[in-house]
Amino acid sequence: MRTEQPKMIYLKDYQVPEYLIDETHLTFELFEDHSLVHAQLVMRRNPAAGSGLPPLVLDGQQLELLSVALDDRELSAADYQLSDSHLTLQPTAASFVVDSSVRIHPERNTALEGLYKSGGMFCTQCEAEGFRKITYYLDRPDVMSKFTTTLSAEQHSYPVLLSNGNPIASGSEEGGRHWATWEDPFMKPAYLFALVAGDLWCVEDSFTTMSNREVALRIYVEPENIDKCQHAMDSLKKSMKWDEEVYGREYDLDIFMIVAVNDFNMGAMENKGLNIFNSSCVLARAETATDAAHQRVEAVVAHEYFHNWSGNRVTCRDWFQLSLKEGFTVFRDAEFSADMHSRTVKRIEDVAYLRTHQFAEDAGPMAHPVRPDAFMEISNFYTLTVYEKGSEVVRMIRTLVGAEGFRKGSDLYFARHDGQAVTCDDFIRAMEEANGIDLSQFKRWYSQAGTPRLAVSEHYDAAARTYSLSFQQSCPPSPGQGDKLPFVIPVELGLISAQGQALALRLQGEAQAGATSRVFAIDQAEQVLTFVDIAEQPLPSLLRGFSAPVKLSFPYSRDQLMFLMQHDSDGFNRWEAGQQLSVQVLQELIGQHQRGEPQVLDQRLVTALRSVLADEQLDQAMVAEMLSLPGEAYLTEISAVADVEAIHAAREFARQQLSAALFDLLWVRYQANRELSRGTAYIAEAEHFARRSLQNIALSYLMLSGKAEVLAACLEQFESADNMTERLTALAVLVNSPFEAEKAAALASFADFFKDNPLVMDQWFSVQAACALPGALQRVEQLMQHPAFTLKNPNKVRALIGAFAGQNLQGFHQADGSGYRFLADQVIVLNALNPQIASRLLAPLTRWGKYDGARQQLMKAELQRILASGELSSDVFEVVSKSLVG
Ligand code: TRP
Ligand code: ZN
Repeated sequence: MRTEQPKMIYLKDYQVPEYLIDETHLTFELFEDHSLVHAQLVMRRNPAAGSGLPPLVLDGQQLELLSVALDDRELSAADYQLSDSHLTLQPTAASFVVDSSVRIHPERNTALEGLYKSGGMFCTQCEAEGFRKITYYLDRPDVMSKFTTTLSAEQHSYPVLLSNGNPIASGSEEGGRHWATWEDPFMKPAYLFALVAGDLWCVEDSFTTMSNREVALRIYVEPENIDKCQHAMDSLKKSMKWDEEVYGREYDLDIFMIVAVNDFNMGAMENKGLNIFNSSCVLARAETATDAAHQRVEAVVAHEYFHNWSGNRVTCRDWFQLSLKEGFTVFRDAEFSADMHSRTVKRIEDVAYLRTHQFAEDAGPMAHPVRPDAFMEISNFYTLTVYEKGSEVVRMIRTLVGAEGFRKGSDLYFARHDGQAVTCDDFIRAMEEANGIDLSQFKRWYSQAGTPRLAVSEHYDAAARTYSLSFQQSCPPSPGQGDKLPFVIPVELGLISAQGQALALRLQGEAQAGATSRVFAIDQAEQVLTFVDIAEQPLPSLLRGFSAPVKLSFPYSRDQLMFLMQHDSDGFNRWEAGQQLSVQVLQELIGQHQRGEPQVLDQRLVTALRSVLADEQLDQAMVAEMLSLPGEAYLTEISAVADVEAIHAAREFARQQLSAALFDLLWVRYQANRELSRGTAYIAEAEHFARRSLQNIALSYLMLSGKAEVLAACLEQFESADNMTERLTALAVLVNSPFEAEKAAALASFADFFKDNPLVMDQWFSVQAACALPGALQRVEQLMQHPAFTLKNPNKVRALIGAFAGQNLQGFHQADGSGYRFLADQVIVLNALNPQIASRLLAPLTRWGKYDGARQQLMKAELQRILASGELSSDVFEVVSKSLVG
């Protein structure tokens, strides 16, 4: 907890470190009631920082200093200054050695940052600034050092002792203790340090790299989970191969380890050679993990592995550059997943997520550029903007320079900066130089926050046979940024004739016609593209594949959208046309509900979805995606003022109508797929994901009919499915149904069967937290009393409280403010336990700008109450104070 008001840190104040740490020798003695850390730092004056010997200011928090020595001379209290956050010494020579010993308390560390205990094991989380809670250090990513680590612990409880790099020695001590020493030959910043001690089993495999080196692969888990590691291991090997093939990147150590821990603030962490994972991102097998969970495991394993190059070998100069590693690595893992499964489906999922959640962040009081220019608490900047929008920015570069040019740029980037701590500008410079282009205007994507709008209009000149598209871009103001300059917006587009033909695109002034789908860089506030030789009025297909993270508008009629759903050659845009049609229809229903008029569903949506369902040729996953109406959170995001009740009522009405109108087709496809599921062993592959996703969305529609045969099918699926995807969907469908007795029985038997599997219980909590039927808050409050729930485990908090506030918009936004009060209460408790989780949990309250005046007042009152609740962590303080200003 802070004692002073947290202060802003600015990118413009960046200075190179005064001192460097060439070698770091750490010794950990781990005990049940405390741990001792000895650090020997081999240091020197940074020649790039200037002359003289300024004071050495080491970072350190929550450390009990036992002793400190400079070049073997023990210092007394008069020789140094000690504060809450720093230890300051005066070096007397340009090269010197600092030795320090501290006592820390991992056993009491509920913030899960630094060294802590998760269940019976010791583990670390040092990104971004956790290493300073382990020892006094220059805890900044541009200070890179060679680490040697010795750890000792009681042998029986902690038979496995791990750290980064290679094991070089081990032995036992008297008193039942043992020790091990690890050496990491690669220079790294402290945020990539890791240590693990516990009673773990491991699954072993190996990978032969492109230069024929054999790498040992090990996944360490608690013994009861040893049967849930194969999918992660397969994913790891696929990732290693893919990075060799697509980026030419080879792994560099002789061993790569993953450790699964139950208590973890985020998804996983790319510590050099020793990734530490939230168990939810490692463990997966058919019976206990859904298809979505399998895909997440694969993606996160890939993401952390890819960091070995984009993050570790080439790291960040400072934390403002976080997207340098995260945006790039998210882009890399997204492309990996696209290559492993369906490219179009992956893109649809990512875009739907970005538009719902990142666009909301970009429009709210916490909006910040991909490269922020100021922060109080860096943990608050592991955001959708840095990760997801950052990935879109990298994707746009590839769209502009092409796949080959992009590879040339990444090769240059890795070759030039291997072993360095660099900036987003360095990444851009490599792309520019490898391709001979100028990205200076493009770089505004890194510095300007907010989601650009791109309004497009058309003009067809029959006499001249020309077709013009006019583009107008703008970007709303965001905190600290009023007027924005034009972005470079790559727009991939095609023109489609009335017969559904793709037209060859030839711009006025071009010698000959080009391809039927082309990318145009829109870089002016207003810009016109004129195409020639256009014999009749075409229909444009714009922003194909979502080629830029913008809000595009074009005055499509519903009939035109139906035409695009059928005829667009771009799969993403076929889906997008369906979404736009749904949005138009739902917005009409929302209006009717608000005016108290009877609700009437535009039958064109029924017609469009009927032909999708009837199309046996279409990828079943695409059918499922097209059948999924835009979510309530997305409908909220695109509203000026979101009407919670009307949005919910309109969407439920549409679902009910679609269920009735499409019942027979849905029933046939459901039964066919369920039959296949019954006869096929579970495989985590695209075709199987596709089959189950259509089966499951069909079931959710069918159940709205209330028919006995559907209930029977749902119960059959719940009871006899051999995989969690089918079982959990059946449970969710029951929970949202009016069949109270069946629902209660299913929830009880599920909990009884899976009570010892915390990850499955997380799903059980989430399904109930997300149920929009009346009484949601009471149900959530009751579930908090369940023996499997604890506020100390971030997965539990996310599964129950996070799902309620983030997904159950009906329940959370109750007009009496009870949902807001509940969330604020939890944030206040969590602020003291785990500031990072508290601060993330509070995000829904910061979105008050979207709601009516009465709700705005209630939400702001709860933010005020948090602010006044006592001593706030810098994490919570920053979010609450900024969102009250916004
Ligand atoms: N670098 C991690 C990633 O791969 C993010 C991360 C893991 C993290 N744990 C954290 C960030 C704790 C902040 C705090 O994305
Ligand atoms: Zn990452």
